Amino acid sequence: MPNFTDSQSKAPQAEAIDVLIMAAGLGTRMKSNRAKVLHQLDGRPLISNVCRTALALRPRNVFIVVGHQAEEVRRAIEDEFDCAAQEVSFVHQREQRGTGDAVMAAREHLAGDDTPLLILSGDVPLVRNETLNKLIATHHTSKAACTILTVRLENPTGYGRIVRSDTGDFVKIVEQKDASDEERQVREINAGLYCFASGKLAAALDQLKPNNKQQEYYLTDVPAILKDRGETVAVYQHNDAREVSGINTRAELAEFENLIRRQTIRRLMIEGGVTFIDPSHAYISSDAQIGRDCVIHPDVHVEGESILGAGCEVRHGSRITNSRLGDRVTIKDHCVIVDSEIADDCAVGPFAHLRMNTRMEERAVVGNFVEVKKSRIGRGTKSMHLTYLGDATIGEETNIGAGTVTCNYDGKNKHPTIIEDHVRIGSDTMLVAPVRVGSGAVTGAGSVVTEDVAPHTLVAGVPAKIKKRLDQDSNNET
Ligand code: UD1
Ligand code: CA
Repeated sequence: MPNFTDSQSKAPQAEAIDVLIMAAGLGTRMKSNRAKVLHQLDGRPLISNVCRTALALRPRNVFIVVGHQAEEVRRAIEDEFDCAAQEVSFVHQREQRGTGDAVMAAREHLAGDDTPLLILSGDVPLVRNETLNKLIATHHTSKAACTILTVRLENPTGYGRIVRSDTGDFVKIVEQKDASDEERQVREINAGLYCFASGKLAAALDQLKPNNKQQEYYLTDVPAILKDRGETVAVYQHNDAREVSGINTRAELAEFENLIRRQTIRRLMIEGGVTFIDPSHAYISSDAQIGRDCVIHPDVHVEGESILGAGCEVRHGSRITNSRLGDRVTIKDHCVIVDSEIADDCAVGPFAHLRMNTRMEERAVVGNFVEVKKSRIGRGTKSMHLTYLGDATIGEETNIGAGTVTCNYDGKNKHPTIIEDHVRIGSDTMLVAPVRVGSGAVTGAGSVVTEDVAPHTLVAGVPAKIKKRLDQDSNNET
């Protein structure tokens, strides 16, 4: 998360708490075949944003209620978090019969005592853990059986409303669909974030009935049930509506994405000294780091945990995903750089594609329409035009001519190509791997190199034959 969670304190809770995250629903309003909590926000599933926040509270247990696409949701979480080490476990809600039913599915895991159970919604992804700590603190000071996080909204449509008595005491939560006209006027809404005394919650769940328009078991009926049982229900009213709003539609998802994006870019400009030519058209993950005096042109995407050093320039339309750039790197227009590393003073593009652990050493240059896969390109080496380098290890100060192809795939297996230092690969050379070209060697234009080339040797032809031995020094001036 951006500012929202970057600053989150990791201070351990004074007292043990458990967290339950409701994430079993389909999210009908998304109009999607994919469970809502799997939709991406800031480059990761909604549910993983909520999990991060939950784990930052250092809870004793985290229970995640899954149901719709349970396996996919579980996998998304396991991909990112070490569930065993962090006491994250999954609870299966067989049928999605409402938020109350979701909690009932986890009933056997609920502590029988007053241990606070924080309940979060998988679709409320921006809530900060300072805010949750305030909710927990209110719960403690008011010695409540239940504390509800509420917020006042200009437009409360769709949310559960907080009904209070004339004296301002909590009476009940009423859902939009079940609310009277008068209740619908209420601007204070239930954010779907609660703290319960576990044992009391468990007892109240037994009294839940699906007596409502949607014929669902509403968790939102539990507070009124607790009140009837003579328990205290407290309210923590928060003042930042956006932070605790839920995402129900794609329009809301896009609004949140935009909000996070703007915050990230603002932080990079104000605190990081990064220039954005057009801040409204840059797409930077909140986990990315961008160094001072970098210049980011329009329509650039920097995804995942990418790191750019100082003074880099990324031109129009390029994407950098989970990659690391040194200082003063230039990425020209329309490049794709994935899972790769580029050292200081390199240049890439336009229209280049680096992927799968490619590494460019200092001052290396990869130019127009060059694809580099799982290869290492040595210091000062250049490959300027129309080339494929795959599974290749290339030394220093070597020149790769236009149209060179490492033929690394024999239809079954991939094979390596090794090109040593100070080599000149002529235009349109096919390097049929596995193959090694020794240092100071030269291949003629159009060569098909099927056998290793000894150092300081000129080869040419189809298949390439030795033409002459070269002076030791002849290639060193490049
Ligand atoms: C819920 C609240 C509403 C509140 C709003 C805040 C209820 C009945 N209503 O409404 O008062 O204003 O959140 O965002 O709780 N889920 C399950 N199993 C189910 C149903 C839902 O796990 O059977 C999960 C969903 O995946 C979701 C969360 O619970 O993460 C909330 O469900 P959703 O259907 O979005 O509730 P809202 O209608 O938004
Ligand atoms: Ca919701």
